[in-house]
Amino acid sequence: MLDPQIDQTGNIRHLITLDGLSAAHIVDLLDTAEALSVMAGRAVNKLPILRGRTVVNLFFEPSTRTRTSFELAATRLSADVVNFDVSASSTKKGETLLDTLRTLEAMRCDLFVVRHTLNGTPEFLARNAAPGVVIVNGGDGNHAHPTQGLLDAFTIRRHKPDFSQLTVAIIGDILHSRVARSDIHALRLLGTGEIRLAGPSALLPDDDAILGCSIASSIYEAVTGADVIITLRLQKERMQAALIESDADYAEAWGLNDARLALAKPDAIVMHPGPINRGVEITDAVADGAQSVIFEQVSNGVAVRMAVMARLLGAM
Ligand code: CP
Repeated sequence: MLDPQIDQTGNIRHLITLDGLSAAHIVDLLDTAEALSVMAGRAVNKLPILRGRTVVNLFFEPSTRTRTSFELAATRLSADVVNFDVSASSTKKGETLLDTLRTLEAMRCDLFVVRHTLNGTPEFLARNAAPGVVIVNGGDGNHAHPTQGLLDAFTIRRHKPDFSQLTVAIIGDILHSRVARSDIHALRLLGTGEIRLAGPSALLPDDDAILGCSIASSIYEAVTGADVIITLRLQKERMQAALIESDADYAEAWGLNDARLALAKPDAIVMHPGPINRGVEITDAVADGAQSVIFEQVSNGVAVRMAVMARLLGAM
């Protein structure tokens, strides 16, 4: 089966997962985002790059950051944006996903950002999209969230450019986390020194997702000497059964607090993709503390999504 996301010339045609991309693809997108981010501080922060193009946000799961930042990114590139309201659409009358795509394609929409509960939905749409139409995965099940992986890599690179020297700890519900998977793909491609995973054993996957990563048996082991700490949300909506005793037990065993953060390198940065369960995976003091770059991640998401759309629509 042909690779759905790379075209015959080696360029990214659709963005479904960072797995299978090259380091050069990632660096190119990060460099493009860096160039576009300069614009963010300007009084007039619009570029005519995607004038006349239409971007559709097709979200079948809730979102604050991803949906809004794709909308802002598209608007800053002068594209028109449609925020497709699934709950008020004909999908509720039984219209298929494919007919929904074809209907919107017939209205000359150019790029679809797709979020869905089911793994593989963006890839399915990419394989069935009309020529020239672009699909970008905005997060599918626990499979992939490639633009989050890119914005996390972008944020880390701004603070710590030499990935080969870094120890990155990823802590929490890795089993259900598409963010962790995409972060691991990006970190591996960028040659990260050590990727250390930690969490309750019921929330650690044992598949290819964690190849090449080390496993820490406690949060203390995970954070000691780390340069970057990525905390993850407990994704109870994806748990078939209760996999943790309680939020309080989880916080006690795996939550990041000031005392635990003190074991990391003094200049370590703390990340979280959001939304945060405050007091569970991270305390207020750490989330809002001097080492937190959580809201930088959000800001960087706009530039990264601008870069992805500009590149995939061939406008830069
Ligand atoms: N990080 C992330 O995907 O956040 P949203 O669910 O708010 O988009």
